[in-house]
Amino acid sequence: MSKRVRTAVFPVAGLGTRFLPATKAMPKEMLTVVDRPLIQYAVDEAREAGIEHFVFVTGRNKGVIEDHFDRQFELEATLESRGKVAALEELQKDLPSAGRTSFTRQQEPLGLGHAVWCARDIVGDQPFALLLPDMVFRAKPGVLKQMMDAYEESQGNVIGVEECAWEDVSSYGVVVRGDGPDKSFAINGMVEKPKRDEAPSNLFISGRYILQPEIFALLAEQTRGAGNEIQLTDAMQTLMSQQRFTGVKYEGKVYDCGSKLGFLTANVVFALDRADIRPGFIDELRKLDLESEL
Ligand code: UTP
Repeated sequence: MSKRVRTAVFPVAGLGTRFLPATKAMPKEMLTVVDRPLIQYAVDEAREAGIEHFVFVTGRNKGVIEDHFDRQFELEATLESRGKVAALEELQKDLPSAGRTSFTRQQEPLGLGHAVWCARDIVGDQPFALLLPDMVFRAKPGVLKQMMDAYEESQGNVIGVEECAWEDVSSYGVVVRGDGPDKSFAINGMVEKPKRDEAPSNLFISGRYILQPEIFALLAEQTRGAGNEIQLTDAMQTLMSQQRFTGVKYEGKVYDCGSKLGFLTANVVFALDRADIRPGFIDELRKLDLESEL
């Protein structure tokens, strides 16, 4: 029987070239949607799903991520002395417990598959969740929680998928759908950026996974694939011939905050979701007279 998923891996060592110059000295994962860094959304989602150990695969220029998940005594003391209790509580609430974070370095950004492989010794011989932090979801419950619920039944490996318009399939990695109900079904294969006519489905992989530890041995053997990077997809395809993969079509929507359009859209959508910001933001949007711009 598979074990419970206690550990999540967050690969944060990428260069974020699509977001230059913002990401020249600052990690992409610290860009904010409204007032929370992308990485905080991913950690919140993992905590909601019951994750207890948070493993970050970092690289050069990413030290601020480690600081973000640490206490800031000076700041806390200042907030306390000014009576800003709500802000202080918010900061403390966002932190994983002491000793529950681990940081390792990728050293060279050789691709997502390589970043995941760098977490192998920390994760060990147990299933783990993998969250790409630049993919931010508007979902209730969170996408990983929905996947965990499906994992209780299916065990094996689980991948979160979302439907896209057929004309957009060539921008994504899509799955070959096998048997099973609409929300949770077998995955028989994956195709990276297929042409519309050749796409096996319009269900794309949006950056949330539950994987069995056997993936690490396959990643170790992996040669460089597309983009001269070690690809996670290639190792998953191999694992698929040995283990079960389940697709979970979650309730919710992803925003690819590694792209400028996704990031800007997420900021608008998440700002409109916030009771404290929505009224003022709507006033500002009205003043922009968007009708005449569109
Ligand atoms: P992306 O595919 O968005 O790549 O990575 P990137 O390098 O960060 O960004 P662009 O394409 O150059 O703009 C998805 C996630 O995987 C991590 C990234 O940090 C991001 O969170 N990643 C990617 C690594 O940790 N290491 C890598 O070698 C590549």
